[in-house]
Amino acid sequence: MFNNATGPTCEYDTELYQTPFALQPHWYYDAAVYRAEAKAVYGNNWLCAGHKSELKNSGDFVRLDFCDESVLLVRGRDGELRGFFNVCQHRGHILVDERRGRLRGGIRCPYHSWAYSLDGALKQVPNQKNIPGFPINDICLPQVKLEEYGNFVWVNLNLDARPMSEQMPGLDAAIAEFIPDVEDADFFEGNSTTLPINWKTQVDNAIDTYHFQFSGPAHRQLTNSMEFTNFEREFHGRWLVEWGLPAQSSQGAGYDFDASKARGKVDGFIIIWVYPDLQIVGMPASRTFMTYRTTPFGPEKTVLDYAYSGAPEVKGSVTSRAAIDWMNGPLSEEDNSLTTGVHLGHKSQGFRGSRFLIDPEKSRYSEHPGSAFHQRLHDQVVPFLDR
Ligand code: FES
Ligand SMILES: [Fe+2]
Repeated sequence: MFNNATGPTCEYDTELYQTPFALQPHWYYDAAVYRAEAKAVYGNNWLCAGHKSELKNSGDFVRLDFCDESVLLVRGRDGELRGFFNVCQHRGHILVDERRGRLRGGIRCPYHSWAYSLDGALKQVPNQKNIPGFPINDICLPQVKLEEYGNFVWVNLNLDARPMSEQMPGLDAAIAEFIPDVEDADFFEGNSTTLPINWKTQVDNAIDTYHFQFSGPAHRQLTNSMEFTNFEREFHGRWLVEWGLPAQSSQGAGYDFDASKARGKVDGFIIIWVYPDLQIVGMPASRTFMTYRTTPFGPEKTVLDYAYSGAPEVKGSVTSRAAIDWMNGPLSEEDNSLTTGVHLGHKSQGFRGSRFLIDPEKSRYSEHPGSAFHQRLHDQVVPFLDR
């Protein structure tokens, strides 16, 4: 099909070498695939809404958007945390616009001012007194399933979903082991950006350590910040943990840190990836970690949501600030440029699909997590195609 007039044929003996499973390129831009993913993946998996410290006090809320959905998590006056669809039951306006914050009083729709209490009950409807029998006491915001697990809050649109502890056994222990500050951490800050790419391109990149050494100056700073030759990985199917011990000095790293005070692997570079789209990243010797979600809003539109938390005593410290700025700046910009380039390439008729390199040692270069992610996603999504 792509034979050149002269030169290599681009063909090889598939009996000698079988390329590991990878999604076909159209899975990265096809609207039908996106619609199926919205149901199969985003309608049916636990999604991380953030660190529990964001939802400590009565009225605290976070908004979690994905695909065409918007969910609101609110701590009620009774201390209970609830999750609702963030949509007014009058004519469907989105209720809360901000990403996070604190609600004083209740939840008021900006359109006709219907007001709900923090537990989701409808409380006030302008002109209600002129509508005999209006069922105000029977109208409320529909709830979603919600769990706290591993010191993070998770949401699932499938009300019959099995608990996180069954779907992701061991993840909570791994989070506690690798990020010991997680239990008492405070939320520091967050931001987001939108890229014209498919969300899976970012996930592929997140679980790819093959590129760390080869992909530009910020990635060299990344490998300089840890003992990359001893980089280790444990892959658990639905989640992955990988870590490098902190470097002996921060020379050549992305920011200055005091390596002599680093406490071993918990102060190294840590990535915990959770299917489908979450990374928890520990940044060396900073006692600061990031939750990073790469969420679809269309086949070629992805929102990258960064939220930083850490030990309360380092909030605003020079090292924590520098770690956040480096992660948000040079490293993210370099990765975003890589994934944008990949997205463009996926749409070329000259690309036939990823050729993952999986070595028997499952070394730090091996791309077995990428292939496994493709397989899992494929198996979840195929039954929902053409529905
Ligand atoms: S749409 Fe919310 S009050 Fe009308
Ligand atoms: Fe990267």
